[in-house]
Amino acid sequence: MSLNFDVIVLGAGAAGLMCAAQAGQRGRRVLLLDHAVRLAEKIRISGGGRCNFTNVNVRPECYLSDNPHFCRSALAQYTQHDFIKLVERYGIACHEKTLGQLFCDDSSQSIIDLLLHECELGGVERRMGVTVQAVDKPSRFRVTTDAGVFEADSVVVATGGLSIPQIGATPFGYRLAEQFGLRVTPLAPALVPLTFQPGDVAVFGELAGIAIEVEACAERGPAFREAALLTHKGASGPAMLQVSSYWRPGESLTLDLCPGVDLEARLAEDRHSDKLLGNWLAGFWPRRFAQAFVELFGDNRPLRSLDERSVARLFEAIRGFVLRPNGTQGYRKAEVTRGGIDTRDLSSKTMMAREVPGLFFVGELVDVTGWLGGYNFQWAWSSGWVAGQHC
Ligand code: FDA
Repeated sequence: MSLNFDVIVLGAGAAGLMCAAQAGQRGRRVLLLDHAVRLAEKIRISGGGRCNFTNVNVRPECYLSDNPHFCRSALAQYTQHDFIKLVERYGIACHEKTLGQLFCDDSSQSIIDLLLHECELGGVERRMGVTVQAVDKPSRFRVTTDAGVFEADSVVVATGGLSIPQIGATPFGYRLAEQFGLRVTPLAPALVPLTFQPGDVAVFGELAGIAIEVEACAERGPAFREAALLTHKGASGPAMLQVSSYWRPGESLTLDLCPGVDLEARLAEDRHSDKLLGNWLAGFWPRRFAQAFVELFGDNRPLRSLDERSVARLFEAIRGFVLRPNGTQGYRKAEVTRGGIDTRDLSSKTMMAREVPGLFFVGELVDVTGWLGGYNFQWAWSSGWVAGQHC
């Protein structure tokens, strides 16, 4: 015996909850299914437990995709300001950190509670801990699970990307897309710590825990001025996570290790000093980092003995420091997955598959990857909201 619904949403994460609530509030009879016992685990652990739920500066340029224009429609239909208004309506206290990032004052749980309440308003039926065994479409969609067979006119796939498999990430959504003939672009971990070549690990590994502000840039992609953190295996911290999304194996990264500092003017003031170069650099960086830098640079003379060529070489080494990562720490440490359902096969206005009426894909599954800082949740809210209007 099968149970009938108008819409079945697969995946009770950020995008699935938003979509189910919207569809329900439009009067659609919605079933929300998830294989995990606890829903929205990624919201729960996000932002260090305080959920960086959006960013006041959201704009399409902050997203990576084979089609950078695809995200425009959903982001315009449901903006960061719409989500902020919703958060305010629920009286959730929040604050802006750096670079427009909005966090809950207390706990991510308040965002989960908001979404659950929105689902209740829409009369959404929720089933957790359910394994989906098959999805097919003899006439209507049929979802076969270990808890029964469910039928609906629309199926919304919101099963997320591959990051953090330990809390339930699966490739389910990509396989389902392929089953229905949609293309999937190459996938890779993104917003992920980078690993260094063994030689660089030998130099920088000892400095694990040290953070400095840098301006970092991958070979293709914008520059990010934020903190970089050295780790035992390579580098992390916001700047490195941001560039990791643009980095490809074999490519290098270029770092300005002293962004915003007028090094020429600062050196001119101290040009005749007996200070060793390493001690001078310790005025800009943690001392241990400055010492490691001069060892690598191969010159730790007093400032007064530096000739013009050495100074030029020094500034070049600081402003154009080249790193060649040899990989990433993979999906276990990645915040998101780059790539996904090929946007050529989806309508940007509705998130529905162009060739399969009634089948929708939303959230991280789609080939739209945001910067660090609340951009990925905004994509989940926007794409989920849009599908919720059309499913
Ligand atoms: P999401 O992963 O949220 O939900 C997918 C759901 O589908 C899950 O509930 C899962 O159990 C379910 N599912 C998977 N396979 C299934 C299957 N086979 N059958 C049934 N159900 C299945 N972003 C941001 O903007 N601000 C932030 O602060 C953070 N912080 C952050 C921290 C950490 C540690 C991580 C890993 C990620 C972030 N992110 C973030 C990224 C953000 O969490 C992510 O982009 C969104 O959760 C994506 O929302 P989705 O709904 O697409 O997937």
